[in-house]
Amino acid sequence: MLSPTSPIGVFDSGVGGLSVLKHLIELMPAEKFVYLGDSARVPYGNKSPETVRLFARQCAQFLLKKGVKLIVVACNTASAVALDAIQEIADVPVIGMIEPAAAAAVRTTRTGRVGVIGTRATVESDAYGRQIREVTRLSWSKNGHAGQTLSVHSHACPLFVPIVEEGWTEHLATRLIAEEYLAPLRQIQVDTLVLGCTHYPLLKPLLQELLQDVTLIDCGEHAAVVARDILAADGMLATGKPSHNGSGPAQFYVTDVPTTFASVAERFLGFPVTRVERVQVDHLQPTLL
Ligand code: DGL
Repeated sequence: MLSPTSPIGVFDSGVGGLSVLKHLIELMPAEKFVYLGDSARVPYGNKSPETVRLFARQCAQFLLKKGVKLIVVACNTASAVALDAIQEIADVPVIGMIEPAAAAAVRTTRTGRVGVIGTRATVESDAYGRQIREVTRLSWSKNGHAGQTLSVHSHACPLFVPIVEEGWTEHLATRLIAEEYLAPLRQIQVDTLVLGCTHYPLLKPLLQELLQDVTLIDCGEHAAVVARDILAADGMLATGKPSHNGSGPAQFYVTDVPTTFASVAERFLGFPVTRVERVQVDHLQPTLL
């Protein structure tokens, strides 16, 4: 039986979803979380939509078995190609990354030139482009941006995911790669850039240094607000003091050897991550596509 004290489920292909978890914890300190990093199968971003849908459903099933009251798909790739597939099997609300971040980008841009960086699968799906154009159509007509146009410039940055998984957020090689990836966006002079992969906020200080006048949109920050509002509206928000009494706000699971996971998690979340449990991929119940 689900209740306000039930945990919130969060999953990603690896450590990227921690950037979302951080915002969720900050915004909802009384909540407990179950985090799954599908580290055996990272990266998702270079795989076909069919494969990502299968993996995403398996991750969601794992979280549902843990009795979560809401699922946050802390992965843009899965949000872009598998949100409906997860919603089909989940009897709890499922929050993706694309809609909240797209809405934030439209609210933020002044020049109408919006950049999106993400995995190949996310960029190829054009999920951000479609969503940003839809939000623009609906909101700009209402709010007097008549005559102004909005253009979306998307670029895949596939090397960022292994770099972040490796913990190389401050490495010189990362700076060189980032300069190369960001050059076209600098040239177009975007004023707003959606970090359309949850691994990328772990590179935020570097990206902000390279794009000083650009507002970076961190999808986790905006998705956390949506999650909180849904739980509040359903009367399912945990209130009062954190109920996890010293054991930390989250239980962590990975699908393969968590070598770098705990250290990246600790550095990023700012609290000790002493226990990361490994779950076998075949313990995740296989589902039909
Ligand atoms: N962090 C994920 C995303 O937001 C997945 C990256 C990957 O596994 O390629 O897309």
